[in-house]
Amino acid sequence: MPFEKELKVFLGSDHAGFETKEKIKNHLQKLKVNYEDLGPSKYAPGDDYPDYAFKVAQKVSQNKDYRGILICGTGLGMQIAANKVKGIRAASPYDAYSAKMSRAHNNTNILGLRGRSFPFSKIKQIITIWLKTPFSEEERHKHRIAKISNYENKK
Ligand code: RB5
Repeated sequence: MPFEKELKVFLGSDHAGFETKEKIKNHLQKLKVNYEDLGPSKYAPGDDYPDYAFKVAQKVSQNKDYRGILICGTGLGMQIAANKVKGIRAASPYDAYSAKMSRAHNNTNILGLRGRSFPFSKIKQIITIWLKTPFSEEERHKHRIAKISNYENKK
């Protein structure tokens, strides 16, 4: 399955995800996926994951063809912070199936990945599947996602 043509990926990490972010850039180049690194540009041991989560999430929320990949120690802090931004559906899939379903059923637009103690082969697999899987467009899933958006818009 090919990638959607207009797709653009924004990357961000904290110190615990920095090394993995650099490796992910190589992987995206190999896949010929358009990406932009929103930082950090160098390893900074005291940096905080929410700063990069908000930066990437705000960008992704501006365009339906934008996606984000955020990496911290576990992927979870990034996921929690990114989900505070309106229009963001961030998840941290842990295998091929959850990566696929997070797109097909939940129409996720951000991936929160684990930089510590996790095989890079698995990260590559999750990213490739996540980028290639389209939203199913099934009514039941649209309806469920609309419930989340309606709740978000009420606040
Ligand atoms: C940093 O030590 C770590 O807490 C952070 O990278 C992340 O895993 C938080 O969710």
